[in-house]
Amino acid sequence: MGVRVRVWDLPTRVFHWLLVISVVGLFITGNVGGWWMDWHMRIGIFVLSLLIFRVLWGLLGDTWSRFSRFVYAPASLLTYLRGQSPLLHRVGHTPLGALSVFALLLALLLQVASGLMTDDAIFFSGPLVPVASDPMIAWASRYHSELGKFFVMGLVILHVLALVVYKLCFKQALVAAMIHGHKQLPGPVPEASDGWHDLLKAAALYAVSCGLTYCIVTWGAP
Ligand code: HEM
Ligand code: HEM
Repeated sequence: MGVRVRVWDLPTRVFHWLLVISVVGLFITGNVGGWWMDWHMRIGIFVLSLLIFRVLWGLLGDTWSRFSRFVYAPASLLTYLRGQSPLLHRVGHTPLGALSVFALLLALLLQVASGLMTDDAIFFSGPLVPVASDPMIAWASRYHSELGKFFVMGLVILHVLALVVYKLCFKQALVAAMIHGHKQLPGPVPEASDGWHDLLKAAALYAVSCGLTYCIVTWGAP
């Protein structure tokens, strides 16, 4: 039986599914190339705003979405792997899940940062190319097209495989929780609050993210 608890607040769920759609769109437009690159860059800049929002929400957001809830000591990871974690470490991101979340966020940030300084030397260049040094542009262009995209793809594949394993082997409906926000847990724990004040706070933080994104991408503008 257990208790039905709201774990993922609306801003985190909206962030997640917009990120999924955008990253799929980036792989398609990046590989098709041509005039789709205009959309590639627009979507990439949108992803930058999402990532800045997630960092702010991780610092100032609600219960289980806060970074402080899923930054664990290494000993917690071992306890989790031995199946002896306390309930509070199994509500939001577990010690193992948290590693994959931080790896995904970091790989995406690096992919966006390198994209902003990528120059294909023919038609398309990221908005920070005018202010970046030549070695930086060369490094970013190679990283973006030859290395970073494989890091992102590899982590996404691992992420989805892990969700399948949790569903099939441990009967945990993690995907459903990322859709409707609730988990069935063995005991009561603090719930994510999703009231109007939380949504207003998220909207204000997203507005700040858009402002920061604008400052970053226009840094190189004449
Ligand atoms: C998570 C974010 C991103 C992902 C997953 C991504 C993915 C990709 C992929 C798969 C390619 C094709 C690489 C190839 O095989 O040649 C590509 C190329 C490119 N991307 Fe991104 N990208 C992202 C963000 C960005 C951003 C923010 C910008 C700039 C605003 C950008 C600018 C470019 C450019 C200019 C190319 C062409 C590079 C070339 O042909 O040499 N990307 N990207
Ligand atoms: C481009 C593909 C994807 C990316 C970049 C991605 C990225 C992420 C990130 C960054 C998080 C952490 C959420 C947060 O705390 O803000 C996360 C969690 C999660 N994602 Fe994805 N995701 C992708 C695809 C998917 C797909 C296809 C599914 C479902 C079929 C999915 C289901 C989930 C679930 C259930 C969680 C919560 C995991 C947990 O309980 O610890 N993701 N994802």
